[in-house]
Amino acid sequence: MQSSVKHTLLEAFSKADGEFVSGQALADMIGCSRTAVWKHIESLRQEGFELEVVRKKGYRITSKPDKVSENELLIGLETNRLGKRIVFKESVESTQKEAHQIAEEAEEGTLVIAEEQTEGRGRMARPWQSPKYTGIWMSIILKPELPPFKAPQFTLITAVAVTEAIRDTTGVMPSIKWPNDLLLNGKKITGILTELQADSDHIRSIIIGIGVNVNQREFPEELADIATSIAIEKGETVSRAKIVQAIMKNLETYYDEYMTNGFSLIKEKWESYAISIGRHIIARTVTGTIRGKALGITDDGVLKLEDENGIIHDIYSADIEI
Ligand code: BTN
Repeated sequence: MQSSVKHTLLEAFSKADGEFVSGQALADMIGCSRTAVWKHIESLRQEGFELEVVRKKGYRITSKPDKVSENELLIGLETNRLGKRIVFKESVESTQKEAHQIAEEAEEGTLVIAEEQTEGRGRMARPWQSPKYTGIWMSIILKPELPPFKAPQFTLITAVAVTEAIRDTTGVMPSIKWPNDLLLNGKKITGILTELQADSDHIRSIIIGIGVNVNQREFPEELADIATSIAIEKGETVSRAKIVQAIMKNLETYYDEYMTNGFSLIKEKWESYAISIGRHIIARTVTGTIRGKALGITDDGVLKLEDENGIIHDIYSADIEI
């Protein structure tokens, strides 16, 4: 089936929001006969979509395959700008790498997403395990008119957006560990990697990489104590596409909020979801280890840490132990 035909069909079903669309209406939209429509519907079935057909009513989609390709993401995507262009790859070294390559010419809000990453990477060049069909491996390209020093705030905006997306689509509530980890029962389910293409005074692109452990049922031995998935903690598999759609929607909302009203609402939400604030933590920075009480974050997303001598440290980058 031609991808433009598929696009038209899926968009029509998305607009119908679970209601029937008549064969004639679909035929008119595509510009083909009703027999041809029926053939296109069969191709959708072969791709894992389930459709109900009722005489005189037409067709409606009753379930989508749990894939994260453009087709599955388009149905139910409620954004105005983000994710309007989706670059989907079955397998890729790293969505972050792909996003960097296309950032210059890409339109704002472009989403790069893959079913598998063979060389996924995390902060501090650590590897990020990204097995096929089980998680969300995505990078979003934003182009805010801002100076580069504002970029770290986007990690916190994203953490709030992803936390709420997971809560609203799966019913489990992650906590945030500064600066970029989401945890369930003390183990990591999400990492966020914010990278920049910038001149000295302005951002050209921010590339926000998000990895979510969704439907893995087990982890390799070296990760089993520190990583988990939503399915392990919830006891059932969940829809990856729904989580991606909710992330995109929330990210758009909080991005707009940030550009219009600044950081204060996001900061408030971030602090209310964070586990480390008010607690004694250990921060391992490149220059040494600081123990103390996490007081909160500044408007720039910097962690304030008060040591035993009452000295307050600004932590820009560290591994945190709670
Ligand atoms: C971290 O916690 O260290 C950040 C992990 C970020 C992983 C995501 S998965 C999608 C995107 N592509 C990558 O190679 N990394 C990010």
